[in-house]
Amino acid sequence: MVVRAGAYDDELVKTAKTIASPGRGILAMDESNATCGKRLDSIGLENTEANRQAFRTLLVSVPGLGNHISGAILFEETLYQSTVDGKKIVDILVEQGIVPGIKVDKGLVPLTGSNDESWCQGLDGLASREAAYYQQGARFAKWRTVVSIPNGPSELAVKEAAWGLARYAAISQDNGLVPIVEPEILLDGEHGIERTFEVAQKVWAETFYQMAQNNVMFEGILLKPSMVTPGAECKDRATPEQVADYTLKLLSRRVPPAVPGIMFLSGGQSEVEATLNLNAMNQGPNPWHVSFSYARALQNTCLKTWGGRPENVKAAQEALLLRAKANSLAQLGKYTS
Ligand code: 13P
Repeated sequence: MVVRAGAYDDELVKTAKTIASPGRGILAMDESNATCGKRLDSIGLENTEANRQAFRTLLVSVPGLGNHISGAILFEETLYQSTVDGKKIVDILVEQGIVPGIKVDKGLVPLTGSNDESWCQGLDGLASREAAYYQQGARFAKWRTVVSIPNGPSELAVKEAAWGLARYAAISQDNGLVPIVEPEILLDGEHGIERTFEVAQKVWAETFYQMAQNNVMFEGILLKPSMVTPGAECKDRATPEQVADYTLKLLSRRVPPAVPGIMFLSGGQSEVEATLNLNAMNQGPNPWHVSFSYARALQNTCLKTWGGRPENVKAAQEALLLRAKANSLAQLGKYTS
């Protein structure tokens, strides 16, 4: 039997615990240039490096952000970027007490032989890219793959998703980066909450099986699951209590207590919905830190408030801080609307 002992083990455990610290969660700001372009387009801005830099500078320099945010996931461009004043974005994060992270997957492409499903690229050259990211200050990584319920999911798609995540997690740990393991189960579809629950059980069983096969150290990973909800087009909506019941049942069946933190994605939920659901999940003790790693549910109002205008920066920063505080309280189970 292979007994894994990596050079970075102690550091990985420490980084994961820092990110999974009480009352804090992750700001996902790692939109690819294409996705960032869609966000900027929604406020009438062109997708230029300068506009991406301006928005991301606004995000990381919110005063007091580190009280609520423990980690920020960056796109490669931002990891190497400075603000207009020439200060490195990574340095601003570290000064705020926020751990810099990096999206390392190379995105989704069609999965041949499946039911119109996708797989996630990025394993080729991953070790050397991650070594460079570590040098640049990153201490955790993210790999997002997706599973679609209306399109299956086929056994092939689930296996491929789990295998890719497991290889990525092992390579990340070998390079000193805590892997965030994210098999997003897309919200699209008319299916009910039971169906999401069933699929999520399959996906997480396979993902943990493959991670064990690849000798991933569970104390040094973080998960980024979708909450268990009905499909976006399902007529029967679920209350935050129902979402919490199903999601915690899923986690307790599939996630060992060795895993330090569960950092949910928002996946298209509204800002308030994402906060209420997280709050409902923290009404009792959990074996893991149950928190957030939201992009849209933290940034939406902030982006709209900014609108690309320098005079709105302060108001936009306040909008981000408001969501960060609300989710921080939800992590503690103390949010009231
Ligand atoms: P959302 O919270 O907008 O779903 O984004 C989180 C994320 O990082 C998706 O990979």
